[in-house]
Amino acid sequence: MPAYGARDCALGMRARHIPRLQIRPSAISPDIAIWRKPGRIQGGAACATCHSPDGIELAVYRFEDADILRRAKQHLSDDDSQQVVDYIHGLRTKLNVTDLRDPDLDRPLQPGGSILPGKTPAERDLAFGLELRDLLPHLFKGRIETLGQAKIAEAELLKVQPVNLKAGIPFNRLSEDVAHGSEHASIAQWLPEVPPAVPQDQLSEWYAAEDRYLADPNEERLHDLIFLHLQLVNKNRMLALGVISTAKYRALLVWQDRIRHRTERDPLNVASDVARNGNYNPIWEVGEEARQAMGRDPHGLGMDEETQGKKLAGTPLAEQLSQLRVAWFWAGWLSDQGLFKTSHDDKTRLGMWFSESLSKDGPYPIHNVFANARRQAVVSNDPVAWGEPLARKRRIWDFAGLRSFGFEFRDVPADPEYRNLYIGFTANCFRMNLLLLKEAIERTHEVWGKLNTKSNIAALVDFIKRFDPPSADAATKLQRELTALVDAAKQRG
Ligand code: HEC
Repeated sequence: MPAYGARDCALGMRARHIPRLQIRPSAISPDIAIWRKPGRIQGGAACATCHSPDGIELAVYRFEDADILRRAKQHLSDDDSQQVVDYIHGLRTKLNVTDLRDPDLDRPLQPGGSILPGKTPAERDLAFGLELRDLLPHLFKGRIETLGQAKIAEAELLKVQPVNLKAGIPFNRLSEDVAHGSEHASIAQWLPEVPPAVPQDQLSEWYAAEDRYLADPNEERLHDLIFLHLQLVNKNRMLALGVISTAKYRALLVWQDRIRHRTERDPLNVASDVARNGNYNPIWEVGEEARQAMGRDPHGLGMDEETQGKKLAGTPLAEQLSQLRVAWFWAGWLSDQGLFKTSHDDKTRLGMWFSESLSKDGPYPIHNVFANARRQAVVSNDPVAWGEPLARKRRIWDFAGLRSFGFEFRDVPADPEYRNLYIGFTANCFRMNLLLLKEAIERTHEVWGKLNTKSNIAALVDFIKRFDPPSADAATKLQRELTALVDAAKQRG
């Protein structure tokens, strides 16, 4: 059985980029019946139970026939398994997939197509800072002291497109199969370990919805599929691994649609396939379910013995959960950068869980400050990111809301070059937002929650005073002016 590593050599340089796909449906359609044939294990789950509606996500990868056969035979007879292989080949022809992705190197949704270099989170976080320095000159060089500078810095921040900006966070591969070595024993992957099965008596309704989608895969039908899955598959009685698997399946529905339409790299603050779902972001949800499962042991996760054998042969479980949480949070955030359409939960919307993950699963301090600053800039400037009528929005205009919930103090790097880069950037992001807040209150004479605004201002100023002493006096003066403005303003929320 070929190891994933063997494939890398054959691919050479090209494999470092996401290959461009040529997807043009041909007239001949492979028969989907084999893809939906119930298997003999896992309650009769079919390939279609855990994989995408037609298997497009397998077809676009260079999985060896031997790999497809090996996986299929766990579920189906030898003859049927060969039919599945033929089906995948037929699908590649139908979709005219000419440039297959490498299953080891390609990581779905990885921003910019590959991970920044570095062996540790700290090395990759520094690499992220160095990448940002060229794109955000006003936030990285010198000090932001005037409103004019703050506005230019914010415009630079809004111009950056995080989907194309390489990050230091390794996104999950499509498949982590222990057959390729114990380093591939992990649940930090896209595919569901536990079948997110639609109940038997509703299966025909489900496949009819899949058929409608496959006949005309438009956004409305994708949304219908996700909505129907939410209705038919109830996670309330599942254990954590089942819940995570169900979330992965719904995220897979979104991603396979982006492969189909070649929209994976579309630079958007809010992806329309996510926005349609109304406070439910299927990609973010995988990270959220991982967050809720943090600290569980295999038994507590609901991992059966066979799955334990496959998934506990290498990376410790706690680390797998960490890799899940941070990667899916970053990926989910890329699809809704204001985080206001992702959930009803305030701690999600204000970036608290995201900040916690970027700290505890790294730490990635520069990523953390950048994500919070970008989130605030999007929320302050892009009405599409708001999701609900403005009257119900809280703290949207509170520029001071970009603090990282204390993690910005905790994760200050020790290495001098890294530390200077981090402190210069963080202090400038904070000064930028204090100046923008001041301008907003002077213009509107309104704030969202006086107490909150004042405590946010104090946290930002505190950081600047502690880590950039030469600008302490200017920060104290700004705080005094802001406090007076907040006191005199009208409270909105
Ligand atoms: C219970 C859900 C489930 C079902 C049903 C299922 N798969 Fe998978 N499949 C997975 C998971 C999870 C992985 C990732 C590897 C792992 O966790 O062992 C995977 C991985 C794969 C891979 C990639 C293997 C590699 O080398 O990395 C292929 C190919 C595959 N499945 C094909 C199939 C086919 C064909 C069927 C139907 C006969 C099928 N699967 C049914 C969950 C499922």
